[in-house]
Amino acid sequence: GRSLVTLDDISTHQIEELLHKAAYIDSHRREVAHTCDGRVLATLFYEPSTRTRLSFETAMLRLGGSVIGFAGAQLSSVSKGESIADTLKTVSNYVDIVAMRHPKEGAALVASRAASVPVINAGDGGHMHPTQTLADLATLMSRFGRITNLTVGLCGDLTFGRTVHSLIETLCRFGNVNFVLISPDELKTPQYVIDRIKATPSCSYVEVKDLAAVIGDLDVLYMTRVQQERFFNEDDYLRLRDTYILDEEKLSHAKPDMAVLHPLPRINEIAVEVDNDPRAAYFEQVKNGMLMRMALESSLLGDELPGYVPLQPKEV
Ligand code: CP
Repeated sequence: GRSLVTLDDISTHQIEELLHKAAYIDSHRREVAHTCDGRVLATLFYEPSTRTRLSFETAMLRLGGSVIGFAGAQLSSVSKGESIADTLKTVSNYVDIVAMRHPKEGAALVASRAASVPVINAGDGGHMHPTQTLADLATLMSRFGRITNLTVGLCGDLTFGRTVHSLIETLCRFGNVNFVLISPDELKTPQYVIDRIKATPSCSYVEVKDLAAVIGDLDVLYMTRVQQERFFNEDDYLRLRDTYILDEEKLSHAKPDMAVLHPLPRINEIAVEVDNDPRAAYFEQVKNGMLMRMALESSLLGDELPGYVPLQPKEV
């Protein structure tokens, strides 16, 4: 089946179509409630999750389908040493589509090759998190009406933050984005992601350490959590985790219509007082994540949304 390991697996037109479908779904919830009747989704989560697993599951339930799966490998035969490939060859017999999260980079690709049904990457280690990016793009569309011609600051753990890698990769495809990469030296953006920006003539980037010095230039500030689970050394984590804390004082130097995004969960990096600021968009991202997963699941299954009129391809 067609899988989604990274958003590079689908065309730019298909991404635009998913954004269009999600907006349709939001305003036609009753009409779409039987789109995936009889379908079964498996959620195979080898790593903790609140939003991603629950929104994948809710998305399938709201489309009329059903859900099976495990949250925590200790209750599956993985704990006895079963491989990812054998697990996916097995689960392919039970379900129509799989969403999988795993702590190892590349696990989703291995799974997609072993499975005979579509596999959606719900996060593979510090590599990619494509469905989070779909939620992020929908949030940028609703805030700005566009996902290009923006100055996008990404702040925090740019080394291990897979949501950042997916978002940069995808924004480069649409082009005309100025990236401001804000991190300590120890948590800079990986070279393969920098290379993606460099390969995009309409995009530019700077790497800086000081959030306060650049916050006034940004249209979007994408905050991230320092990824404790990816550190080898607890002392390094403790030293770096509170490098950036966005509070109302810092936000007072930002543009009045800047959007603050965060994939969540947050620890300390956004003060709770910021939640009431109109620039805070991170709980909108949560809602958009569910809608985009509804659009994605129905699309990968080839199940048409009743009453939906597809986007026309752009004239070239
Ligand atoms: N944003 C995100 O992936 O959240 P969870 O880890 O809770 O799924």
